[in-house]
Amino acid sequence: MASLTIRKLDEGVKTYLRLRSARNRRSVEEEVRVILGELIEGREEPLTPFSAPPEASPAPASLRSSAVPEASVTLIIGGGIAAFKSLDLIRRLKERRIEVRCVLTKAAEQFVTPLSVSALSHERVHTDLFDPQSEFDAGHIRLARDCDLIVVAPATADLMAKMANGHADDLASAILLATNRKILLAPAMNPLMWNNAATRRNVAQLQRDGVLLIGPNSGEMAEAGEAGVGRMSEAIEIATAAEKLLRPPVPRPLAGKRVLITAGPTHEPIDPVRYIANRSSGKQGFAIAAAAQAAGAEVILVSGPVDLDDPAGVTVKHVESARQMLEQVQSALPADIAIFAAAVADWRVANEGEQKLKKTSAGMPPLQLVENPDILATISKLADKRPPLVIGFAAETEHLIDNAKSKLARKGCDWIVANDVSPATGVMGGDRNTVHLISKNAANSEITVDSWPVMTKEQVAIELVAHIVKSVTHTSVDKSANKFSEPAS
Ligand code: CTP
Repeated sequence: MASLTIRKLDEGVKTYLRLRSARNRRSVEEEVRVILGELIEGREEPLTPFSAPPEASPAPASLRSSAVPEASVTLIIGGGIAAFKSLDLIRRLKERRIEVRCVLTKAAEQFVTPLSVSALSHERVHTDLFDPQSEFDAGHIRLARDCDLIVVAPATADLMAKMANGHADDLASAILLATNRKILLAPAMNPLMWNNAATRRNVAQLQRDGVLLIGPNSGEMAEAGEAGVGRMSEAIEIATAAEKLLRPPVPRPLAGKRVLITAGPTHEPIDPVRYIANRSSGKQGFAIAAAAQAAGAEVILVSGPVDLDDPAGVTVKHVESARQMLEQVQSALPADIAIFAAAVADWRVANEGEQKLKKTSAGMPPLQLVENPDILATISKLADKRPPLVIGFAAETEHLIDNAKSKLARKGCDWIVANDVSPATGVMGGDRNTVHLISKNAANSEITVDSWPVMTKEQVAIELVAHIVKSVTHTSVDKSANKFSEPAS
């Protein structure tokens, strides 16, 4: 069967997979397996277009289906009295949504039957290296590779000796020699066997080879009156260890940071039924919120009216007008990072009609505009609660860099993400963005312009969060006292 190298996929596909897997707390490989599983079962629409990944939104319910195994284990059951515990291990792995394919050594068949193992695993059990049914397409190689992890439980002294010396004279040892997956051994043997110099040498060799061990525990042996180190770890311990290897914790570089984000347009009422608005979709701000959340931050998103689902795990405050947005932003402080991606209306109607304005013979209604509060400038200039990193956006239709630089100075923020929103670019409401990150060096006030290639708004969000991670890890905000403190190094 063909194997897939994630590294060689398109950048867009990789970013999409990274985001999805982070959101679903899976490895990228697990995410790919889930997607393919869904496609094969016909429950998921083909994921087009892959070259233009969709915007951040919660994974479809089908992708979170608890019925879909997210990882798979080849479980090799060795011949020892502890083999009966492996029946429980199969159950424990399956309840963690881990698919289990079992291999029994000849000796294991003396302790558990292929029938009970196959009934529990819901899979055919493999016992023979020279089984014509599975070896017609090198079945032992598939068992060795078409899984995420190999667990050997119980790992007998004999099986470990074979592994340490590279033997491959039965199905279990051939799989262990042919695999490029991680191997987790749960040794089980008599304490004298465990302490025997030969076993010690073999264990040391296996550890040098990168093989992982869980246990053995100490306690009473099956043999009457014998106790010591050699009992196989309990099924639940082995299943937990396997799960940790299969689903390593996702890095959360912004854990403990509070990120405040504005997004979308604002609606400024003219009368109860009409308002002034703009074409902002909110997609960029929502993508940043999802990326910051995936990086472990506590995210508060203050959004104007948009047609988007709230990003999972993000606190969303929905507002209409610029003044409401300012109010919510102020009440969300303090924050470590504030990102102002909203396209706030610059003006509102001073003489907002209490009733619907009617057409009259007197002509047009006299609308008077007044300037809205500048939320970014207000927060950037706060004396006490100013977030340590304040990032604004500059939506420009001409002189992009010059206008953005003067916006940076005028508003008093630290970085500006400048983008060309001329109609020809399709940025407003579209899925892609071409941005320039303009930043001011805090030490010498030097301005740097970093121009990024055209990207999806999700990619821009990931890139921006990566820049934030680099710069923000030195200060953190004390939320109780509204003061900033240096973290303990
Ligand atoms: N912004 C804000 N409050 C406003 C207007 C703008 O917080 N009342 C923020 C936006 O969220 C963005 C930045 O200021 O981060 C720049 O917004 P932009 O619309 O590009 O600029 P304006 O301030 O409107 O200036 P101009 O009209 O001159 O382009």
